Amino acid sequence: MKHFLKETDFKSHELGEVFALAREFKAKRGRNATPALAGQTWAMIFSKSSTRTRVSFEVGIHELGGNPLFLNKNDIQLGRGESVEDTAKVLSRFVHGLIVRTFDHSEVERLAAAGNIPVINALTDFLHPCQIYTDAFTMTERWSKNDDLLGALRGRKIAFLGDTACNMANSWILGANLFGMKISLSGPAEFAPGAELKAQLQREGFPADSYQFTTDPYQAVKDADVVYTDVWVSMGKEDEKAERSRQMSPYAVTAKLFAAAKPDALFMHCLPAHPGEEVEQAVLDNPRSIIFDQAENRLHTQKAIMAVLAKAARK
Ligand code: CP
Ligand code: NVA
Repeated sequence: MKHFLKETDFKSHELGEVFALAREFKAKRGRNATPALAGQTWAMIFSKSSTRTRVSFEVGIHELGGNPLFLNKNDIQLGRGESVEDTAKVLSRFVHGLIVRTFDHSEVERLAAAGNIPVINALTDFLHPCQIYTDAFTMTERWSKNDDLLGALRGRKIAFLGDTACNMANSWILGANLFGMKISLSGPAEFAPGAELKAQLQREGFPADSYQFTTDPYQAVKDADVVYTDVWVSMGKEDEKAERSRQMSPYAVTAKLFAAAKPDALFMHCLPAHPGEEVEQAVLDNPRSIIFDQAENRLHTQKAIMAVLAKAARK
């Protein structure tokens, strides 16, 4: 069974298919809808808050002819101690796919291993692959001059500022390697990319020096095509807010820092943003900020991911 738990789960020909389909779905939205999930129900188990991911998946499943079934973890027996494995086996008898937002990354792996339906990672503490595919697709809209969407990413540089040990940073390190991009991260040394990410890079066969880390944010953004940041306090880390804010404040994306990237650099943020913390309002409002294109493209890209997984499951 094919799953999407991490960036590298799609092989290169499937990657091309996902990006091309995302573009087609966006162009045809509401017209000539492809009923890739006709007659199917896809369940969504969420253990954390969500605006973009929840809404884009629910709308996307509906637009593909399927039925979304939202399950707050605390409303099902999983929240009262039923095992992850039994949950996967039971849901596999009812639904055609599973979308999961949770804390521990091993939970999505265990659901995938125990069930026999496709599982999509809708964010764990370790990775957020749906966001990275969407972000990369959003970049291709700005850079691509032909049908070779992935080619438009190769050689481009992304600078990631702030919490460089969070799920978004980890996912962008994997994504940059997958898409042939360069990535430079900058944040407090205590929040440098961690051992779990390094082990993952090794498992994927990516070189250990496949990302740069510096405590100097100006060095990171030099020659960058994209300046990217995420919240300093990810879901589940609320108790560390004061210390994180103190340590990460030099890494806020200010108008001055953004101006130190390439003159045509884009600003990106997965959202939700906290203006005045990780990014200045002026940067969010800059004409080169593409944050709402990113948000919209969650819909089109995730529809493409589901369509490709559903096709693989039918084989
Ligand atoms: N970017 C993102 O995943 O947003 P939500 O937490 O609102 O789903
Ligand atoms: N790093 C953030 C991303 C939110 C989309 C979090 O995990 O809360």
